[in-house]
Amino acid sequence: MAVPVRAVTRCWRPAALCQWLRSGTPGCQFSQSTHSSGRDTHFGFQTVPEEEKGEKVYRVFESVAQKYDIMNDSMSLGIHRLWKDWFINHMNPTPGTQLLDVAGGTGDIAFRFINYIRAQREKLIRNQTKSQQNLSWSDISRSYSHDQLGPLMGSQAVICDINKEMLKVGKDKLQRLGYSEGLSWVAGDAEELPFADDKFDVYTIAFGIRNVTHIDKALEEAYRVLKPGGRFLCLEFSQVNNPLLARLYDLYSFQVIPVLGEIIAGDWKSYQYLVESIRRFPPQEEFKEMIEDAGFFKVNYHNLTSGVVAVHSGFKL
Ligand SMILES: C[S@@+](CC[C@H](N)C(=O)[O-])C[C@H]1O[C@@H](n2cnc3c(N)ncnc32)[C@H](O)[C@@H]1O
Repeated sequence: MAVPVRAVTRCWRPAALCQWLRSGTPGCQFSQSTHSSGRDTHFGFQTVPEEEKGEKVYRVFESVAQKYDIMNDSMSLGIHRLWKDWFINHMNPTPGTQLLDVAGGTGDIAFRFINYIRAQREKLIRNQTKSQQNLSWSDISRSYSHDQLGPLMGSQAVICDINKEMLKVGKDKLQRLGYSEGLSWVAGDAEELPFADDKFDVYTIAFGIRNVTHIDKALEEAYRVLKPGGRFLCLEFSQVNNPLLARLYDLYSFQVIPVLGEIIAGDWKSYQYLVESIRRFPPQEEFKEMIEDAGFFKVNYHNLTSGVVAVHSGFKL
């Protein structure tokens, strides 16, 4: 096993980014220095020194940010929307839930969460109203008024992502769509989250964890920031369990996706990385063990689309 060989005072993050991360997030733990571990890791199919991966991943998402949403729709033929809907339904959050969505990018998980909470609230009020006899019209309209419980009943979603461009695109998008209440945007690293211990009810990470350099550290951080009883949920590309689909999926991934990336986003390399990074991510059972090693209980997973993606779940008890 390699051991750290030297300490350097170089941070992979450009100085301006470090400064922005610190100024935007009081309590942010980023330091200007990192340890050079002497260890290698993978960046797609390339082998790179560990301390270079973060910057490379940062550049990928900086480059794709403006076209990220349209590329997601084109590459997956819109199926990513169904996976994300399934993910939120599986979470089944209740009004009042405090969500942390790490690697939240352009906010797809957070706005689905807000929609779900709003729908839950409407259902709750409808049921409460129905269960009371002899209500006057003004009683009914009062029970539907937002002032009574607040439209989100105290629920909050914090979207945390390391990439300033992704966050900017997400903020603009959700503002355009009329989402402002209950959402906050924080710049931060999944491996070093700028949040106190035991703070959130649910931690989500969708299509993000395969990009972090140390998955075990990101899992430890997930565990730390969850309240006891809190839930970890991860949506990630995984291993396809149907051999025919696996062949077609490989063909599509390697022959079509980088071409689409070039045509739509003018960026072949970033999409080549995305495809390769999927192949480097541990399969379902192995990832389940990593989640257990981080201390989570009742860990299980569901395959969607024959394992093209999997949803892993665990609890901090
Ligand atoms: C494929 S996008 C997923 C975005 C969003 N969750 C979604 O499902 O559409 C991956 C995101 O992970 C973020 N990311 C990569 N490494 C990260 C890290 N160490 N900490 C936090 N976010 C990270 C990227 O900036 C990018 O926004």
